[in-house]
Amino acid sequence: MSDSAKLSYKGQEYEFPVITGTENESAIEIGKLRDVSGLITLDPGYKNTGATKSAITFLDGEEGILRYRGYKIDELSKKSTFLEVAYLLIYGELPTQAEYDAFSKEITQHTLVHEDIKKILAGFPSNAHPMGVLSSLICSLSAFYPDSLNPNQTDEEINLSIIRLLAKMPTFAAWAFKNKIGHPVNYPDNNLDYCANFLKMMFALPAEQYESDPVVATALDKLLILHADHEQNCSTSTVRMVGSSQASIYAAISAGINALWGPLHGGANQSVIEMLEAIKADGGDAKKYLDKAKDKNDPFRLMGFGHRVYKNFDPRAKIIKQAADEVLSRLGVTDPVLEIAKELEYAALNDQYFIDRKLYPNVDFYSGIIYRALGIPTDMFTVMFALGRLPGWIAQWKEMRENKEPIGRPRQVYVGATEREYVFINKR
Ligand code: CMC
Repeated sequence: MSDSAKLSYKGQEYEFPVITGTENESAIEIGKLRDVSGLITLDPGYKNTGATKSAITFLDGEEGILRYRGYKIDELSKKSTFLEVAYLLIYGELPTQAEYDAFSKEITQHTLVHEDIKKILAGFPSNAHPMGVLSSLICSLSAFYPDSLNPNQTDEEINLSIIRLLAKMPTFAAWAFKNKIGHPVNYPDNNLDYCANFLKMMFALPAEQYESDPVVATALDKLLILHADHEQNCSTSTVRMVGSSQASIYAAISAGINALWGPLHGGANQSVIEMLEAIKADGGDAKKYLDKAKDKNDPFRLMGFGHRVYKNFDPRAKIIKQAADEVLSRLGVTDPVLEIAKELEYAALNDQYFIDRKLYPNVDFYSGIIYRALGIPTDMFTVMFALGRLPGWIAQWKEMRENKEPIGRPRQVYVGATEREYVFINKR
């Protein structure tokens, strides 16, 4: 007999099925709760609410485990490539050589964007944050490819949109940067692989030969793998939510980019470096900032620390910390903020406040230090996160669609004024 859970309320007892996933996570299915009892559940921030059943990413926050489609993140980051991981996330299995070659080739063939994109870019003020520019350009694809507005597209048509997204996102990201610094944009170079092409579009100057450093391209590929999916986080839930209304896939991904932008989510990577720079400028006193983070009257938080689901080391942070040391030494870069970061980490991990709340460094704590060493400017860090997260968003959108999930529509407990009579303004 399958498991069930009982709720008793006002002398009545209600029974609900309990479902268990493949990793033994259990959930009470409360879909009929309101029908039978008149009650709803209230869970601000969805801290304890499962929104879907998903077969893409498994995460155990207590044990610090992260797997894509069953494959361990540390193994993928060592042995795989970003495009292979993208294929795995989106289509469910690792590709054969022939599938991988066809997938990479197709992506390469779609890297170019419509020339009118330059007109949209030109409309942005030069100080526009590249995340806003990126989300706008991604959303503009719904105008260039209006067939994506049809919710009944065939699988083949959907797949073309998926390929376009993977192909054009690096072009948009690099163009957002070039536009910001007032340089002419670089067109994609289809002789290069995904990361080398992106680096060339970012850094090549018109009058100079450019060849990306393989150390930089490999480090970037690894970072993108580490960011590729993270189950039902804020931006991914946003993608699924927007997608559930049957808006275009481009609109859904654009919404995900906006959700990622905030400093409590992907925007934390930019905030971490800004915080470390501020500590350095203030004399490098890590303890002072630790005390600020613990002070409930001070809005300051230790950026890059804490996570909704990890109550142990974020496995991505472990890999990134090691990679930061390797990349900086291979590139011969010394960065004083790396020392401040390590000092801050050590102090926090030995501080009772952080121990009691199980606050560990997250993916964003060390990633900015690598991005900086790779020559990526600070306000592009979250764009890099978006580039990495794209296959995860796509996979989650595709799963939501294939599972025919209903439109996302939470309920609320209303606490406003009860009915009252309108009074004309001159009588008030
Ligand atoms: N510095 C100081 N105190 C913290 C921090 C922090 N970074 N994070 C959590 N706390 C405290 C918080 O004040 C609360 O204390 P108390 O129980 O005394 O009220 C307790 O820890 C629990 O925090 P919470 O805000 O209820 O936890 P949450 O699950 O709602 O928030 C978080 C998770 C990531 C938003 C939060 O830890 C945070 O703001 N961290 C800094 C921003 C950051 O690094 N974000 C990137 C997350 S990883 C990338 C991604 O996938 O998005």
